[in-house]
Amino acid sequence: MNTNLEKVLLGKTGIQITPMGVGAWSWGDRMFWSFGRGYDAKDVHEAFTTSLEAGINFFDTAEAYGSGKSERMLGSYLSGLEPPIVVATKFMPFPWRLTKGALLKAIHSSLKRFSLERVDLYQIHWPFPPVPIETWAEALGEAVQQGLTRAVGVSNYNEDQMRRAYAVLAKRGIPLASNQVEYHLMNRKVEMNGLLKACQELNITLIAYSPLAQGVLTGKYSPEKPLPGVRGRRYNRAYLEKAQPLLAQMREIGRAHDGKSISQVALNWCICKGTVPIPGAKNARQAVENAGALGWQLSEAEVTALDEASAKLS
Ligand SMILES: NC(=O)c1ccc[n+]([C@@H]2O[C@H](COP(=O)([O-])OP(=O)(O)OC[C@H]3O[C@@H](n4cnc5c(N)ncnc54)[C@H](OP(=O)(O)O)[C@@H]3O)[C@@H](O)[C@H]2O)c1
Repeated sequence: MNTNLEKVLLGKTGIQITPMGVGAWSWGDRMFWSFGRGYDAKDVHEAFTTSLEAGINFFDTAEAYGSGKSERMLGSYLSGLEPPIVVATKFMPFPWRLTKGALLKAIHSSLKRFSLERVDLYQIHWPFPPVPIETWAEALGEAVQQGLTRAVGVSNYNEDQMRRAYAVLAKRGIPLASNQVEYHLMNRKVEMNGLLKACQELNITLIAYSPLAQGVLTGKYSPEKPLPGVRGRRYNRAYLEKAQPLLAQMREIGRAHDGKSISQVALNWCICKGTVPIPGAKNARQAVENAGALGWQLSEAEVTALDEASAKLS
């Protein structure tokens, strides 16, 4: 295992994570990612061990992924790991979950699936109504105080929602560690709407999800070779056509860095922006390639050039 990778702090928590993690949504998920077709449990296990060997110590999942299967799979890889990894999972505020107790019950169920006594980061998956932001933030605080998680975060919160959760937790002396949102070269909303700036101001880690635009920013899909399944609806032909000039520029920039791939450029750009990307990997090959986004850096001029190329898309 490569233990030399630099680490960054997860918000103000003191928890050290690699500047990039791995997202485990596709691990066991049949509905969106078609687990079992084209990749299986062995591939996923290899994606995990390969990422670990590359030195990555941060893994993100959710109770909703594969209806608990992703948590179970990740949990099955954890026993005896030395040093232990940083495990993040999420609470889904389903409409029938109405009280703080519902969150505490859910985290106990997650812990059971992981076979852990506590996780490292517990996040609210979405700011869905009807339960107020403040109620879930109070519940997160209780989860920390009961020793069920080391740190807490949110996901898909806008600036106002994030500040409200931050304020509730601050009253208990607990930092809001992170906000996990979609961020990549084809979606830079968080730069435009002030969320990234607010994260930096409050020392909240912005965890960038779908950093490869669910495969578009690998360069392997094109108008002639569209994305399969549900993904093809959002990332349709028009989207793929629009992406081509940006992908061409990413390819060029990657070449100038000893042949880095488009995916590696996409992930390195997220890191250069001060965010922590968590690309999904379905197998060892993808995990190795993604890990190659670490240990080097795009120049400022290259980041600017990519910014300009991506700005032309909107
Ligand atoms: N909080 C939230 O609401 C939320 C929402 C979405 C995601 N997330 C988190 O973010 C993580 C990552 O996001 P994501 O899975 O949506 O999208 P992503 O990381 O942008 O894309 C992952 C997909 O791209 C393809 N891929 C990955 N690496 C590749 C490589 N090196 N070469 C070629 N293809 C590659 C794989 O699919 P194919 O091989 O099938 O193309 C893989 O499943 C998730 O696992 C999850 O932890 C959170």
